[in-house]
Amino acid sequence: MKKTVLLVVISSFLIKSYAGEGMWLPLFLKSLNEAEMQELGMKLSAEDIYSVNRGSLKDAIVHFGGFCTSELISPDGLMLTNHHCGYGQIQSHSSLTNNYLKDGFWAKTRQDELRNEGLTATMINEIVDVTIQALEGVTDKMNLKERQAQIDKNLEAIKNSLIRADHQDIAIRPFFHGNQYFAFLTTTYRDVRLVGAPPESIGKFGADTDNWVWPRHTGDFSLFRIYAGPDNMPADPADENIPYKPKHFLPISLDGVDTDDFTMVFGFPGRTQEYLPSQALEEIVSDLNPTKINIREKALNILDKYMRKDEATRIKYASKFARIANYWKKWIGESQGLVKSKAIDKKKQFEKEFTDLLPKNSSYRHILPEFDQLYKERAPYAIVRDNYNEIAGRNIELMRLVGISVRLASTFENNGAEAYEGYKSRVLGFLENFYKDYDPAIDQEIFAALTDHYAQNVSDRYVPSELKSLGSHVPKNYSMLAEDIYGATSMTSREKMMAMLEGSPEEVIARIKADPAYKLGAEWKAIYDKEVQEPYNAINHKMDSLQRIYMAALMETFPERRFYPDANSTLRVTYGQVKGYQPTDAVNYSPVTYLDGVIEKYKPGDYEFDVDAKLLELYHKKDYGDYVDKKNGKLPVCFIGTNHTTGGNSGSPAIDAYGNLIGLNFDRAWEGTMSDLNYDPTICRNIMVDVRYILFVVDKYAGAGHLIDEMKLVRPKIRLKKKPKIQRAGRETNKLGEQPRKR
Ligand code: ARG
Ligand code: ASP
Repeated sequence: MKKTVLLVVISSFLIKSYAGEGMWLPLFLKSLNEAEMQELGMKLSAEDIYSVNRGSLKDAIVHFGGFCTSELISPDGLMLTNHHCGYGQIQSHSSLTNNYLKDGFWAKTRQDELRNEGLTATMINEIVDVTIQALEGVTDKMNLKERQAQIDKNLEAIKNSLIRADHQDIAIRPFFHGNQYFAFLTTTYRDVRLVGAPPESIGKFGADTDNWVWPRHTGDFSLFRIYAGPDNMPADPADENIPYKPKHFLPISLDGVDTDDFTMVFGFPGRTQEYLPSQALEEIVSDLNPTKINIREKALNILDKYMRKDEATRIKYASKFARIANYWKKWIGESQGLVKSKAIDKKKQFEKEFTDLLPKNSSYRHILPEFDQLYKERAPYAIVRDNYNEIAGRNIELMRLVGISVRLASTFENNGAEAYEGYKSRVLGFLENFYKDYDPAIDQEIFAALTDHYAQNVSDRYVPSELKSLGSHVPKNYSMLAEDIYGATSMTSREKMMAMLEGSPEEVIARIKADPAYKLGAEWKAIYDKEVQEPYNAINHKMDSLQRIYMAALMETFPERRFYPDANSTLRVTYGQVKGYQPTDAVNYSPVTYLDGVIEKYKPGDYEFDVDAKLLELYHKKDYGDYVDKKNGKLPVCFIGTNHTTGGNSGSPAIDAYGNLIGLNFDRAWEGTMSDLNYDPTICRNIMVDVRYILFVVDKYAGAGHLIDEMKLVRPKIRLKKKPKIQRAGRETNKLGEQPRKR
């Protein structure tokens, strides 16, 4: 099914720029990137990175739970990802007596490795360009509905025509805003166990204060293992499963990095929007980011207050807090970066350049004015939408329970008893975990603060009656309202909720509908669905279509440019170099941090910057083993590079010129957090843990040398004469990387 790319005009003339920008499809590395990558020092071929016919680097790259990346690092299915990616799992195995968040966890034997309900590991078997088939019969004359119907029909046909094995899944995704389509054949493993995690004082060192910030000193890693059935194929979690045998795993280099070294990050970036018009950035900076930041700040302050008071609460809410805080901080950085880099002016300048290049009678001339119109039309809905989603959809947890209840009732009413039972069993599964990490008193306080916020910030017509203030002279008392609702609802208690869900569907639904939280939440949702979501979607639909046309227009207007598709949680390669940057005038950041920096930040007893005795002892004895940086006798901790990454790239391997693992991607540097919208090569940097720090922690700190024994350690810089070959499936021939090291 090899098809020529429809719209990208691949010019042999590659724009010389600062290496870094771009999240590239593995399928086109040969034509678009190989030459540049080799110029930057890479010794591999495109085929070594992505091949369908033989083992290649891609076989070691795993989509972790669908939200992070991980990589195989041993012939026994051992997998490396971030501490913050495995955080939910580590937390769910933790209690006050077995506090793995605080103390870390290291399975002594394979029997001690911990199962994780619902956690998956997905590998990409093959990527197929199906653009021509997907767009067959689609014409410019079609309206949006007709167009989508034709495409849906085509995608169904493609799925049926692609030959696949029993265990394989197929997903077809649009790229370049619907100008191209690719099919992904994947295999998903369902038995993924926790093997090891450092304590938070290492894995989350610096916590939220250091999050999104360079210089960084976090050992943000954890280890998992994939288990398979006796045939090495996916199997349901079971004791008799055996460690998965990968087609390829990454050797680990002990040679470390130097400034300007080639680096490649291979993983599953989630979402970027690099081709938005300037109006979109204006809306984000002036309305949407501030709205979300404000709401989260209110919720975080309340959570923080309770978590500091009580260790059990801290464990319960640790994962939730981290998730809310992460994007709260990111949006702040993003807005600052967009302003400081004058991103809006630059976009406008670019749009002028684009318009000037269009022929007088070009049909593309309508695009930018139409965007202007549509963004104006959508603006009032967009802001209510963000308010509602943040408040009712996320931060007030009781309203999420109401959302589920609404759906349960409508499932019965619209789809009957069988569908109802199916959904109900999913609800019960969700509730099982929900109450374990839920404290109604905290939620009640958040409810009071955020319903107040909603009523003050959103036009009255979108506010449910119970939340409306009683006129300017008699402001509503939201704390009292919260007390009433939380006092009377059955949803905040596991026992009461379970009792409410017992009996026939009719009985259950009657009880649910009489619940005071339901009454408020259902009205709120009904108003939102009808008055906000519906008009928003209608306009948004037109914008999506316009964005597709704009994307095509850009590619036609700038044929000499190399375009890369926005991230969409599919496998991508990004590459660059190890490099520092200048965050502000007269300040230079160098690209590597050391354990000495951990000690400089050390605040005894502090919940973010504490260091434990064992690590201090190793530091004072300089007991770094083979993991030391030979140049200066120090232990490296993190480094930065010009690789273009985003959320979802966490846990991605940083790979050297020869295909060995040198680091573990986990974050971006503050000044460049706007890279999802406006990549600026001078200041956008990704942050990686140096793999030597990971090995040091596993070996010296945790005494888990048996895990090191599984890995393959190499020293490629010491003698590299000829081009190394990728390790082939099941063969012990000349392996990728160099020089296996004896322990
Ligand atoms: N900022 C990184 C990423 O977006 C790491 C987040 C985890 N750490 C935290 N303190 N929440 O995921
Ligand atoms: N920390 C992010 C993640 O979890 C990575 C990033 O946004 O740079 O995927």
